This record gives sequence, C-alpha cells and structure tokens, in this order.
Amino acid sequence: MILVTGATGRVGRDVVSGLHALGCQVVGMARNPATAHSVLPGFAHRIANYDDPEALQQAFTGIDKLVFIASDGDANSVARHHAKIIKAAAATSVPHIIFTSIIDCDASSPFYFAPVYRESERWLLGSAIDCTILRCGLYSDFIVENWVKPAEITGEMILPTGAGRVAPISRKDLAAAIAAVAAGPRRANKAFIITGQHALSFAEIASLYETINARPMRYRPCSNEDYRRLIAPQLQAPWPQAFCSLGTAIAEGRWQSASQDFKNITSRGPESFGEFLIRTKCR
Ligand SMILES: NC(=O)c1ccc[n+]([C@@H]2O[C@H](COP(=O)([O-])OP(=O)(O)OC[C@H]3O[C@@H](n4cnc5c(N)ncnc54)[C@H](OP(=O)(O)O)[C@@H]3O)[C@@H](O)[C@H]2O)c1
Repeated sequence: MILVTGATGRVGRDVVSGLHALGCQVVGMARNPATAHSVLPGFAHRIANYDDPEALQQAFTGIDKLVFIASDGDANSVARHHAKIIKAAAATSVPHIIFTSIIDCDASSPFYFAPVYRESERWLLGSAIDCTILRCGLYSDFIVENWVKPAEITGEMILPTGAGRVAPISRKDLAAAIAAVAAGPRRANKAFIITGQHALSFAEIASLYETINARPMRYRPCSNEDYRRLIAPQLQAPWPQAFCSLGTAIAEGRWQSASQDFKNITSRGPESFGEFLIRTKCR
C-alpha cells in the first residue's frame, strides 16, 4: 500500500492516478474530505492535516511506502510540516519514504527554500526509515505561470536571472517519475535528479514562446532590487523574497543541472519546454 501526501495537489493527483495505472494499491492523503472527493474520485483516501500528528499517524498506519510530496508556504510552516510528517512516519514504522526535494539545497545557496529542503533531507537520512530522494528542477508550469504569462502584455520577461539556465520539467513528468520510483524496488538512501534534458537560458525560453505563439517575447535581465520593486506590490510575504532569491540562485547557475535520471527511471525522455508550451497552449 502506497500513500501519497498532497494528493489533491497538481503533482499529487497525477502520482495517485499514475500508481493506479501501474497496478499499485494507492491511497491519497488529503486535508479536506470534500476536496478529496472532487479531486480524487474513485480513489481511496485518508484525511490528515500536516499540523495534526495524531491524524498523520492514523493515516500512515499499515502503509508500505510513503510518497512525501513537499509542502508549500512560508519556510517555517514547511519545516514544521516536514518535521511532523517524518516524525509520524517514524512512529508508525513506515518502511520507505520517497521525498520530493529540490536540486538547489546547498548550504551556500541564497534560495529562500534551500535551508528547509536541506534540513528535511537531513532529518530523513537521520531517521531509521529507508528513503529515496527526488531532487526536482524548476517546473515548466511554474516558469509559464509566474514568469511567461505575466509578461504577455508587455512582451518583456524582466527577471534577475542573469545568464543563468534552467532545465524545466513539467509537473506531469515529475509525477510520472515519482510513480515509477514508488512502484519500483526500494532504493534505500538513493537520490535522483529530476529535470528536463536540456538547460535553457531565459532568452531561449522567451524565443521558444515567441515562435510557438507568434507573439513577441524577449528576456531582459534586471537587478534583484528592480525585480523586488516590480513584484512586491503583487505578492505577499514570503513570495517576493522567495522569487528574488530564486532569481539569484538561477543566475549563480544552481538550477542548470540537466540530468538523465528521468529517462533512466521512466524509459522515455521528458517533455521538452517547447512541447510543454504546445501541450498546455502556454496556460
Ligand atoms: N520545483 C518547482 O518549480 C516548484 C514550484 C512550486 C512548488 N513546488 C513544490 O512542489 C510541491 C507540489 O506542487 P503542486 O503544484 O502539486 O502543489 P499544489 O497543487 O499547491 O498542492 C499542494 C498540496 O499540499 C496540500 N497541503 C497543503 N497544506 C497542507 C496541510 N497543512 N495539510 C495537508 N495537506 C496540505 C494541498 O491540499 P489542498 O488541496 O487541501 O490545498 C495540496 O494537496 C509544492 O508543495 C512545493 O513544495 C516546486
């Protein structure tokens, strides 16, 4: 029995259906019964909030593998959620956890979320539980939602990412990789890098968008201060800090890894960023 946290989320729901398609017994964990019914129709689910240790322990009882999809929000809440999930998994003797980390969790990284992912990996490796860590690159969906779409009006993507490159992976492909790892043999204390196959500059990303949509788009690098001024009126804390520090980390080359692990895990190549733009019609 495999339990998936964040199962009503965009990655989690595809992991649940992917595991089902692979013939696994799967149960989705959700915090809200109504959301579970509407997002996971026909799938078994268990209800628990990450802030409720007792409910987490009940949800994890009898589980053979836990697909632990990272939480989101401010870094303190994410750390609290992750600590409670790992503690509940240890208390219920879950044999194996598959955790979605990020490729940028080095101690020297300026990225706002780097410390919480680094700590979470440390807690997992220090627990008695076998764990497999999937260090994920930037989602193609994230780039389009947060950086490409908002730039459509002006045709100018203004970011503090310098000459940095990224190898985007779609949420759908990430879910396929997670399901394949969770359905496969236990890979104790092993880490995979889940990214696209090619690292793109932001000028290349803008150019792909321009070609596929026949709409003007160009990339203009800016300073971190200018970017913060641009986004601060539209975003609540911690997002201006998270986005600015992500830009700096990208400019420093911390998100440019392009790994073959996705292909090795799934026996197919990941969707390219251009293919993602066509499939989603840039939504
Ligand atoms: N690499 C990247 O580019 C990138 C970008 C963005 C996010 N991420 C990470 O990837 C993760 C998955 O992405 P996603 O798009 O699937 O996120 P998502 O659609 O926002 O889904 C988040 C899931 O977490 C659940 N959740 C949130 N707080 C909870 C709580 N206190 N207790 C129980 N469940 C809770 C949500 O439940 P509800 O449905 O009830 O809200 C939902 O199922 C994110 O959480 C974040 O850590 C990575």
